[in-house]
Amino acid sequence: MAGRLDGKSIFLTGAAQGIGYAIAEACGREGAKLFLVDRDGALLRESASRLGNLPFAVADIADAAAIADAVQEADGTIGPINAVINNAGVNVFHTPLETSEDEWYRALDVNVKGAWNCCKAALPGMIGRGAGVILNIASTHAFTIIRGTFPYPVAKHALLGLTKSLALEYAGKGIRVNALAPGYVETQKSIDWWNSFPDPAAARAETMAMHPGGRIATPQEIAMAAVFLISDECPFINAACLIADGGLGVLHHA
Ligand SMILES: NC(=O)c1ccc[n+]([C@@H]2O[C@H](COP(=O)([O-])OP(=O)(O)OC[C@H]3O[C@@H](n4cnc5c(N)ncnc54)[C@H](O)[C@@H]3O)[C@@H](O)[C@H]2O)c1
Repeated sequence: MAGRLDGKSIFLTGAAQGIGYAIAEACGREGAKLFLVDRDGALLRESASRLGNLPFAVADIADAAAIADAVQEADGTIGPINAVINNAGVNVFHTPLETSEDEWYRALDVNVKGAWNCCKAALPGMIGRGAGVILNIASTHAFTIIRGTFPYPVAKHALLGLTKSLALEYAGKGIRVNALAPGYVETQKSIDWWNSFPDPAAARAETMAMHPGGRIATPQEIAMAAVFLISDECPFINAACLIADGGLGVLHHA
């Protein structure tokens, strides 16, 4: 099946690698026009070129003015934005009392305020046209806690709050706002997490073994869910969060 996103113009953050890159690939395959954003300029340039010379802006999503400029540039390049995919995010992992003020703000500024900056810049156009879709890439950390990963779950819980708030505010304006919550995904973030253990190979094996299917997700599998949520195939899915964790979250530990 192709062409599921024909005619859609998508503003996608964190597109240089990992889940964002896979989302860009999948949306492109389905006919969407994409405008990519990432703060890693070198990697974004390389990825945008590999994806077929897609337009892009090097910007930090925490910088509201830079994002407002990027949204304006996207509007002028790929046409009025129909969908925003807030994918860029950072892991900030500490124990609560060891979290510095700077680290607290870094987690919240990028994972929550960054998504809001993109929504805030794109929403007036969507409201004016009476149509639009926003998808926030949350995490299973929006529901459950791994000790020692503070304040990342605080931020991802807040991202769900942002999702629901915007969904209800603008449901009457033809706009849907949803979240997608991946569990463990095979990306650099996960590799960095395993590398933080004394025996990274053992940590990786343990992660795989705790999953009901004995493996974690590929970025492509998360991208397939993202395509569905921004497509016209789910017009009545709003203020929702789709969990894509291979069933890990309902596994009962006896
Ligand atoms: N990998 C996982 O296991 C996993 C699980 C659940 C949720 N997630 C979420 O999925 C999203 C993507 O994760 P990933 O694993 O692909 O990450 P990644 O680190 O592989 O890629 C993230 C991209 O976002 C960019 N980015 C980070 N902060 C930015 C900022 N302030 N402004 C602009 N760009 C920025 C990075 O440069 C990078 O290219 C994140 O929101 C993450 O929290 C990931």
